[in-house]
Amino acid sequence: MIGVFDSGMGGLTVMRAFLRDLPGYGYLYLGDNARTPYGNKSLDTIYEYTRQAVSFLFDRGCILIILACNTASAKALRRVQQHWLASHHPDRRVLGVVIPLAEAGVEATRFGRIGVIGTRATIESKVYEQELGKLRSGLKVFGLACPLLVPLVEEGWVGKPETNMILKKYLRRLKERKIDTLIPGCTHYPFLQKDIERIMGKNCRVLNGPDIVSEKLRDYLHRHPEIEGKISRGGEARFFTTDDPGRFKLFGERFLGQRIARVEKVSLG
Ligand code: DGL
Repeated sequence: MIGVFDSGMGGLTVMRAFLRDLPGYGYLYLGDNARTPYGNKSLDTIYEYTRQAVSFLFDRGCILIILACNTASAKALRRVQQHWLASHHPDRRVLGVVIPLAEAGVEATRFGRIGVIGTRATIESKVYEQELGKLRSGLKVFGLACPLLVPLVEEGWVGKPETNMILKKYLRRLKERKIDTLIPGCTHYPFLQKDIERIMGKNCRVLNGPDIVSEKLRDYLHRHPEIEGKISRGGEARFFTTDDPGRFKLFGERFLGQRIARVEKVSLG
């Protein structure tokens, strides 16, 4: 099975793209709703929570795990890969969303001016600057934390004038920098895609996170038959949350864009 982990419901936007583009595999989704949001938490806390989640998904039979959460990918992925995976599950893999988005950013940019928006933790980590810099030198990267956007999306305020006003206020700073490409580095931003595109205007390309991550996963599976061959088939998707399953189902269906038959409550750590 392929495990998909997020701090809460947002990663369902990525899961939605996987189910659409790679429907043949079995999936397990885990949302740490009891401890969300991760975006304002410390490095050690995000690492510990992510490690517990990865361990849970491996125990349930996942061969490959995607950290759909940008914050977990930014703050915990490398440490999980280097210090934990090698000694606990050397034959399995954990991947994040930062490198796929950075690669797509480099492919998309025309003048080398790239903006990144995300949670405070993601932006403060400077992980996009590092990964983009490894791919191409001389890029100008402008990171901007937008901590108000996650709660606005979760409250269903997408499209409201107040939300667009906040969005405009944030994005103005990136428009002033004349970026030609924007990386929306957070699970919740696909809901704001149209509004972000409209505000940024036609001279800025706004990447679509879930589409990119799904395309890169397809490519990864193609290039790694030793991993792909071990993943179970059958198209089954199971959902786990660390908080109220009823609430997860209610809001999760909006993020996933389809019905969720059953949600199981679990505890981590
Ligand atoms: N899933 C997080 C991300 O993509 C956003 C929500 C949170 O702060 O936990 O960065």
